Amino acid sequence: MQDVYTHIETLGIVPVVVIDGAQDAVPLAQALCRGGLPCAEVTFRTAAAEDAIRSITAHCPDMLVGAGTVLTAEQADRAIDAGARFIVSPGLNPATVRHCQQKGVPVFPGVSTASEIELALSLGISTVKFFPAEQAGGIAAIKALSAPFADMRFLPTGGIQPDNMNAYLAHPSVIACGGSWMVKKELIAARQFDRIEKLTAEAVRTMLGFELCRISIACTDKTEAKQAAGMFGALFGFAKPDGGAVFFGNSLELPPPPHLKKNGYIAVGVNSVMRAAAYLERTGCACRTDTAAYKNGALAAICLAQEIAGFTVQLVQK
Ligand code: 3PG
Repeated sequence: MQDVYTHIETLGIVPVVVIDGAQDAVPLAQALCRGGLPCAEVTFRTAAAEDAIRSITAHCPDMLVGAGTVLTAEQADRAIDAGARFIVSPGLNPATVRHCQQKGVPVFPGVSTASEIELALSLGISTVKFFPAEQAGGIAAIKALSAPFADMRFLPTGGIQPDNMNAYLAHPSVIACGGSWMVKKELIAARQFDRIEKLTAEAVRTMLGFELCRISIACTDKTEAKQAAGMFGALFGFAKPDGGAVFFGNSLELPPPPHLKKNGYIAVGVNSVMRAAAYLERTGCACRTDTAAYKNGALAAICLAQEIAGFTVQLVQK
């Protein structure tokens, strides 16, 4: 089983939930799962939080559920007993941190300054919540703090939206973004679970950034490849014959690269191959680990196990 840190990094977004009625917890969790994000940080800002975590744990086993706005060791105990698999706090309370550590439950205390990060390090914390992210300087602040604290990882939360999320996620020290935009309190209270599902699916698509970026057409031989190249060149000005391979900008090439299927190869660009592959796996679309390629230690390309219309489909890092 994945550890919680890897699990959160793989998901990329942690929905931050404020829930007034525990009876809404399971439909909410199901909407998040359908939208592609089986994760929630249920905040202890309402009396329903503990029961909500208990219900989600009992009815949605695939969901990674944690507790947020945990201010005391006593709240952490209630959250953990209800099934919370991680604890998040807006600030850094050494007593709460030590309590969670003694219980062996991952804890993400909130920080926004260098001194707080030093305190977190002295407590053996490797990943902090960066809060309130936008108000505390946003991604520029994380970049600046990452210089002296190169090993610290951040879970920024506060003011994150679809339009600024990817700037955070592109930084290697950011494991995921937290945010409430897809699970607004009013949407939950109005039981608008379809809307929550849609906003969640949009958030996932924005994060992954799927984009058709290259097509290779399988030709029977070099003559056919050259002819095709000539046609594309004559008709559209794409052609640029280059030795054995024929490239058309970055959008079409002949002959195709390895892992070729009957009809060729399609490269789909993504913001994170690791997150995109994990997302597709969750939807039942497996990837072939024997095709994985790495760059600077990060997954940079991988092929889907299934071909589509005779084409190999490969996820590639944009
Ligand atoms: C939190 O508790 O982490 C924040 O309230 C969530 O921030 P947001 O509502 O701005 O996304």
